[in-house]
Amino acid sequence: MGEPLVDRFARVHRDLRISLTDRCSLRCTYCMPEQGNEWLARQSILTLDEIVEVATVAAAAGITTFRLTGGEPLLRTDIVEIVRRLAAIASPDGPIEIAMTTNGIRLPEVLPDLVAAGLARLNISLDTLDRERFRNLTRRDRLDEVLDGVRAAQASGLRPLKINAVAMRDVNDDELADLVAFAVAHDAQMRFIEQMPLDAGHTWDRSSMVTREEILEALAARWSLEPVPGRGGAPAERWRLDGGPHTVGVIASVTAPFCGACDRMRLTADGQLRNCLFSIDEYDLLPVLRSETPPEARAERIDRVLRNCIAGKKAGHAIDDPGFLQPARGMNAIGG
Ligand code: GTP
Ligand code: 5AD
Ligand code: SF4
Repeated sequence: MGEPLVDRFARVHRDLRISLTDRCSLRCTYCMPEQGNEWLARQSILTLDEIVEVATVAAAAGITTFRLTGGEPLLRTDIVEIVRRLAAIASPDGPIEIAMTTNGIRLPEVLPDLVAAGLARLNISLDTLDRERFRNLTRRDRLDEVLDGVRAAQASGLRPLKINAVAMRDVNDDELADLVAFAVAHDAQMRFIEQMPLDAGHTWDRSSMVTREEILEALAARWSLEPVPGRGGAPAERWRLDGGPHTVGVIASVTAPFCGACDRMRLTADGQLRNCLFSIDEYDLLPVLRSETPPEARAERIDRVLRNCIAGKKAGHAIDDPGFLQPARGMNAIGG
């Protein structure tokens, strides 16, 4: 224990994305079927203490960012306590950063408590500003609640605040500039995401995907775009808008993958470690977490599973390979 998590390609892992639940208050068509999924069994969902136990070992192995995802992480009734306990973990590699990716619903009621508990950064998913489109896309008429969530995030002072939209042909591709203007008005960074083959219906098709190039072309019609250097391991490439303070990002996971700089691993709500969004293999922590092993030996066993997981990491997602297989889990159960 104590050594950093380095894979076969010398990538050092610093970021653990923790999915807290596979459930969600929306049903985005690119993520979940209308009726929802067959949910993970309740008894397999990690408890607060189990999450903290894994995170503590991960921090000792060099993880410094915990990003809470879902499904929708704010559906966890113990979300404030989760943030508080994770933020209090001691790290030998500098301060722990707690971030969250959310659909924004419920933010107005919980955000003050989350910030007091130690939440440092927020990314909010919002694909359209049009109520009818939102209803069709998410199968729920809840745009106003999401917009209230964005306003609450703006007021909270957490920065950088990011808004994520999956760019989709004939769904929101005529709205990209409006979304940027909305983000700028809320002091947020708009980010457009190329859609990845992770949809529940397995209907993804590369030829209909809106690409980085198309996104940039649409934005360049309204702003001058100046590349921001120094991306590091971040998934988004960024551009400065008209030389001003605001930037826009593009996450081109398909046409310009950032796998070479990937520093992330994932923990699913049911205790499976994954070394990639697209990995087929999972590394099960439940038997360790639910065994009678004494604490120190358990920490060693968790550490071993973390290291096995990283040792099995592939160079990249290989979406373009003829033998590419979409993972069995949907995005809502992987954690985005
Ligand atoms: P920041 O640390 O704020 O940059 O967060 P993030 O962009 O890593 O997280 P967020 O949850 O906002 O994810 C935005 C998009 O990036 C989503 O579509 C994610 O699925 C995608 N993404 C996040 N991590 C990975 C990854 O490891 N690989 C790929 N291909 N996409 C990722
Ligand atoms: N491709 C790309 N991004 C996706 N997200 C959900 N499904 C997909 C997909 N198939 C995004 C959500 C959210 C983030 C966690 O992942 O919009 O912003
Ligand atoms: Fe919920 Fe996110 Fe999936 Fe939409 S993409 S249904 S907000 S988990």
